[in-house]
Amino acid sequence: MKIFSPLDVGFFLASLLYVIYFGSCYRLQATTQYRPVVIIHGVLDNAGTMNTLQTMIQKAHPGTNVTALNLYPDEKSLKPLWPQVKDFGDALIQIMKDAQDGINIICYSQGGVICRGVLSTIPDHNVNTFIALSSPLMGQFGDTNVFKFVPPEFRKEIYKFCYGSIGQDHLSVCQYWNDPQHQDLFIEKSVFLAVLNNQTTNVNSTEWKKNFIRIKNLVMISGPDDGVITPWQSSHFAFFDEDLNVVEMENQTVYKEDYFGLQTLHKRGALQKCIMSGVEHTHWHSNQTVFDNCIEPWLW
Ligand SMILES: *[C@@H]1O[C@H](CO)[C@@H](O)[C@H](O)[C@H]1NC(C)=O
Ligand SMILES: *[C@@H]1O[C@H](CO)[C@@H](O)[C@H](O)[C@H]1NC(C)=O
Ligand SMILES: *[C@@H]1O[C@H](CO)[C@@H](O)[C@H](O)[C@H]1NC(C)=O
Ligand SMILES: *[C@@H]1O[C@H](CO)[C@@H](O)[C@H](O)[C@H]1NC(C)=O
Ligand SMILES: *[C@@H]1O[C@H](CO)[C@@H](O)[C@H](O)[C@H]1NC(C)=O
Repeated sequence: MKIFSPLDVGFFLASLLYVIYFGSCYRLQATTQYRPVVIIHGVLDNAGTMNTLQTMIQKAHPGTNVTALNLYPDEKSLKPLWPQVKDFGDALIQIMKDAQDGINIICYSQGGVICRGVLSTIPDHNVNTFIALSSPLMGQFGDTNVFKFVPPEFRKEIYKFCYGSIGQDHLSVCQYWNDPQHQDLFIEKSVFLAVLNNQTTNVNSTEWKKNFIRIKNLVMISGPDDGVITPWQSSHFAFFDEDLNVVEMENQTVYKEDYFGLQTLHKRGALQKCIMSGVEHTHWHSNQTVFDNCIEPWLW
């Protein structure tokens, strides 16, 4: 009768350990929880509009805790942005407290600039992925559903209102109105976007940058048929120059000088662009193709 050699026994034990080890890894993976997802709505909009998105997430990743925050719904969304950042931020702090491995956020349209504010001002946030869904990240210079009664050729005049005290003090859209032909006024008057971009003197800029770059990924989703965000490339930090040519993110001063951490994120490989054509502004959060290609891969 053949006696097992020590080599055979060793091999047997190694195989057994292998099976136990990888078996347990497999089980661990199978029960891994998806990070909670928080959705932040856009202007003149509310959490209810995000139902389809919520359903798509739960179908793709069963068990995900998805919260669509219903703060500043509908016309309340036109209120000034710093108080909105504070209130959305407080709600996010509560959710992050219970999420040891962090959360993912999807911020639609105006919600994206609110999220930029939140991520810059909360020191120890644990947001893993920030998905900016067709959001005017570099501002807006064109038709919006707020100014839709204004013919496009008059957008050149809107700065007079937006960079005045009524516009800046009372209307969210004015706080990210970025007129490429009146940059001096933008920098002087914009109480929100110019400050967030560190285009003004901000004693907290170093702190805010440190906070912002805590995110692991920034996924920027947009497309040429959006019809509202103008230029649509603002959704990935490009913007008009004085002659209304679109200058890509890499050639924007705020990027080149790394004013708020954008270049740091890019160099770390943390910026993802997902460009889809054939999607109108109000369809981004209900389009299954957009979800499958641009959102689902980042919700881990
Ligand atoms: C989902 O998240 C919310 C907000 O943090 C929390 O109140 C709720 O208890 C969570 N639900 C589950 C089932 O974990
Ligand atoms: C800087 O941060 C402090 C503390 O959070 C805050 O009170 C102050 O308003 C901030 N300053 C600016 C210019 O935002
Ligand atoms: C913000 O801008 C000021 C003035 O241009 C600059 O001194 C400062 O370093 C900038 N902050 C960051 C974090 O880049
Ligand atoms: C930035 O500007 C330079 C010089 O005009 C140009 O060669 C380059 O292609 C631009 N980069 C992008 C990403 O547009
Ligand atoms: C959904 O997205 C796809 C891919 O971008 C696009 O071709 C299609 O037109 C979109 N459908 C709607 C209803 O927005």
